[in-house]
Amino acid sequence: MANQWATANHALDYLARADQIPHRTDGEGVLLAHVPPSTRRLLDLGTGDGRLLALLKIDRPDLESVAVDFSPTMLEAVQQRFADDPQVTILEHNLDDPLPQMGKFDGIVSSFAIHHLADSRKRALYQEIFEVLEPGGMFCNLEHVASPTEKLHEQFCRPLVTP
Ligand SMILES: C[S@@+](CC[C@H](N)C(=O)[O-])C[C@H]1O[C@@H](n2cnc3c(N)ncnc32)[C@H](O)[C@@H]1O
Repeated sequence: MANQWATANHALDYLARADQIPHRTDGEGVLLAHVPPSTRRLLDLGTGDGRLLALLKIDRPDLESVAVDFSPTMLEAVQQRFADDPQVTILEHNLDDPLPQMGKFDGIVSSFAIHHLADSRKRALYQEIFEVLEPGGMFCNLEHVASPTEKLHEQFCRPLVTP
């Protein structure tokens, strides 16, 4: 199936409902907890409008980062978000292709992006990620995967009930 993310409609539709993804903030919280505050140089794959990067920068204001995406609409949105931040480099790149030369990173993150790639490309990308990680570096991927049963899928989609 063709990747629809290059179309403005698809990107804008996602941005409008991004907060409605079930348990999203729980997942983002777990990812934030796993990225060490000491991280110096970070890569965000499929950055979208830079939402995850912005969350990471709250506690890591001096973080140097590279934000990668291929959707013109998302690239415009992330450029706007970080217009005044020289520490963020925005790079247009299609993740179907091998990662370009960007140097090494001690942190690599991604959220809800890598599942758009073919399985064979995911596997190759994980290898490329490993190769650009500094020794001891951290790769954190926030993703949704298929639930093993329909019942668990329904449970996942139900809002959390707080006492
Ligand atoms: C569901 S959005 C997630 C955006 C952001 N990471 C977030 O959490 O809000 C998926 C993102 O992956 C990007 N993406 C999908 N396929 C891609 C590809 N082949 N190369 C680069 N980016 C891609 C889309 O343009 C989009 O910004």
